[in-house]
Amino acid sequence: MKEGCPVYIRDVNGETTAQFCRLANSVLGTQYPPESFEAAPRGHHLLYICKVAVVHGEVVGGIRAHSVADGSSSIVPSAMYIDMLAVSPVWQHQGIGSILLEQVELLCRECYVHVLQLHTPVNNTAAIRWYVDRHSFVEGDVVPDFYLSTPMEAGRLSRDAVLLSRVME
Ligand SMILES: CC(C)(COP(=O)(O)OP(=O)(O)OC[C@H]1O[C@@H](n2cnc3c(N)ncnc32)[C@H](O)[C@@H]1OP(=O)(O)O)[C@@H](O)C(=O)NCCC(=O)NCCS
Repeated sequence: MKEGCPVYIRDVNGETTAQFCRLANSVLGTQYPPESFEAAPRGHHLLYICKVAVVHGEVVGGIRAHSVADGSSSIVPSAMYIDMLAVSPVWQHQGIGSILLEQVELLCRECYVHVLQLHTPVNNTAAIRWYVDRHSFVEGDVVPDFYLSTPMEAGRLSRDAVLLSRVME
């Protein structure tokens, strides 16, 4: 971590929601509207987490995840699904992404959820390697046109996504 720059992990709130939205859109090349980052999704899921990493009052990273159920239990979700993880380029490679991921892992452990899942574009090679090599995720099926309805910067990231999963020990 950069010397003298403490990183605080906070629940997203009114003030930081817009910053997280801008950061995610610029890092991922998406154009999600700020409304999609507001509290609404919370009510739709048994478990929901949205945390940001803050340095000197500025959001430098964030993660958002929600539970998914496969119908086998109405009490314990079958997995947590990470639908957003982004760290500002100047703050990458300093452990912030891993700290944010740990927040989701902690919630999983507290709530007896043993599987983490996410999709990422098939050509997002650096992120795929990060999840697989550093965080023990396993590559699964490719979903063609997964991001068809996602407003994305043309050409940079593929619309096809790969499923990454990890069974927690
Ligand atoms: C993928 C992503 C979230 C990783 O975030 P990050 O903060 O850079 O991740 P970390 O710092 O925890 O780990 C990255 C590297 O830094 C190194 N690192 C970890 N802690 C460190 C520290 N304290 N000091 C120096 N280096 C450190 C790790 O060894 C790791 O190396 P490696 O992955 O090259 O082997 C980030 O690159 C990102 O936002 N990418 C673009 C968006 C994206 O693709 N999101 C995910 C798909 S939805």
